Amino acid sequence: MKDVPAQPRRRTGGRTRLLLGGVLAAAITVSSVAVATLAHADLSGPPGTTLKAAAERSGRYFGAAMGGDRLNDNGFLTIANREFDMMTAVNEMKPDATEPNQGQFNFSAGDAIYNWAVSHGMRVRGHTLAWHAQQPRFWANLSGSALRSAMISHINGVMAHYKGKLAYWDVVNEAFAENGSRRSSNLQATGNDWIEVAFRTAKAADPGVKLCYNDYNIENWTYAKTQGVYNMISDFKARGVPIDCVGLQTHFTGGSSLPGNFQQTLSSFAALGVDVALTEADVTNAATNQYQGLTQACMNVPRCVGITTWGIRDSDSWRGSENPLLFDRNSNPKAAYTAVLNALNAASTTVPGTTTPPSTPTSTPPSSTPPTSTPPSTPTSTPPSTPPSTGEPGACTATYRTVNSWGGGYQGEVTVANNGSGTLNGWTVRLTLAAGQTLANVWNGVNTGTTGTISVRNASYNGSLGANASTTFGFLVNASTNTAPGVVSCTSP
Ligand code: G3I
Repeated sequence: MKDVPAQPRRRTGGRTRLLLGGVLAAAITVSSVAVATLAHADLSGPPGTTLKAAAERSGRYFGAAMGGDRLNDNGFLTIANREFDMMTAVNEMKPDATEPNQGQFNFSAGDAIYNWAVSHGMRVRGHTLAWHAQQPRFWANLSGSALRSAMISHINGVMAHYKGKLAYWDVVNEAFAENGSRRSSNLQATGNDWIEVAFRTAKAADPGVKLCYNDYNIENWTYAKTQGVYNMISDFKARGVPIDCVGLQTHFTGGSSLPGNFQQTLSSFAALGVDVALTEADVTNAATNQYQGLTQACMNVPRCVGITTWGIRDSDSWRGSENPLLFDRNSNPKAAYTAVLNALNAASTTVPGTTTPPSTPTSTPPSSTPPTSTPPSTPTSTPPSTPPSTGEPGACTATYRTVNSWGGGYQGEVTVANNGSGTLNGWTVRLTLAAGQTLANVWNGVNTGTTGTISVRNASYNGSLGANASTTFGFLVNASTNTAPGVVSCTSP
């Protein structure tokens, strides 16, 4: 697991004001990055008077989930801004929202939540990339390697857009059944390795974001489902499958309330070398003892990095009739709020890596990701950018690498570079696929042909490369043998 200094926690106070300036600028200049934020755990400081301030004392965060409709709800926004430092989109970053049609990504709803959150000093959890529910409609018509390819393309497309911007991604959500075996789903039917392929793809797409497995009913240590997930994480760590964190949704209902062994569950997962987080907490009738207990358990486990409630007020909840959140319908904090606040302030452990003061008290520097590698949300409406050529004609080179492979296919990436002193106005790469291989999908480029020698030319938004600039395109190949493509060449008009 990457340790925390890359994304240290923010504290309130003077540094926060500096930070907010940086983050606001990042939100306005869309290509900049706004992975907040800063400062360090300090248990000797005064108790926090808000959830986020109390959580930040121990290097943790306190988050909420919001739907896009809450962006016009001042009651919600006021509490969110005052109390929370992490935000999750309820539905807007799910697969059906971000890729409604194959290869056509739409980030407008997710971006609206993201921009609001970072402009108010929060970090953002991405939820979710691969799930049996809320899938794009076109996934229902796919199966086998075609569905596998679609999942990989989806992860690549969405993660390219949010690269460097999020604190965590729920890469895979709710993939286990109650008996501890894999849940049956169309994704599971593509092969038992679908989860690790999702994580390997995610790691290649954005090496900086923390990659989580997220599920419900995995809070009780002796429950079969908990053990099933634990065994998978243990196996992933043993085999080097990249996974950084486990999200325990923590939906406590009448039938499954806070288990007495919750802390043992958290510490057992953490002992595997992953962070743990409570990602969607809500409790029937906001039982004060359960909220106190779930918070206390997290505070007692150093690698429990934060708590998110699924909404803020009871009127925001998917379980609204059970009044399960920390604020009532009139925005008043409940007794459970005070219990949580006190438990946060009473933390005696800090998140590893958060006790060292950050060396730079301002916001994270802008991403080095070239803006051309992020597909625009509406690529077809973006006019081609072809400034006049200057200096010597550009010299185009193409370099291939295999990003990921599995039985039945692989994911490739080509870096197109301009090694000349002039501007490249468009490029075309030719590569030859081995016999039995078929191109399944291309992103950040437009292909001609799907077998044998194929060509890929620039997309409308990444054809212009200045001197020494480069861009990448990616593709998926269905294959009986995963031989890398040969004869990779680049030409420019
Ligand atoms: O937007 C449409 C609206 O146009 C239509 O009129 C209405 C009619 O039913 O449906 C609306 O869409 C609903 C959507 O929420 C937005 O409100 C969907 O039907 C409804 O199924 C969807 O529910 C979401 C649910 O995930 C779907 O599985 C909940 O809002 C969301 O809170 C919930 O979140 C999940 C987490 O992702 C995973 N863990 C469990 C958690 C709670 O169920």
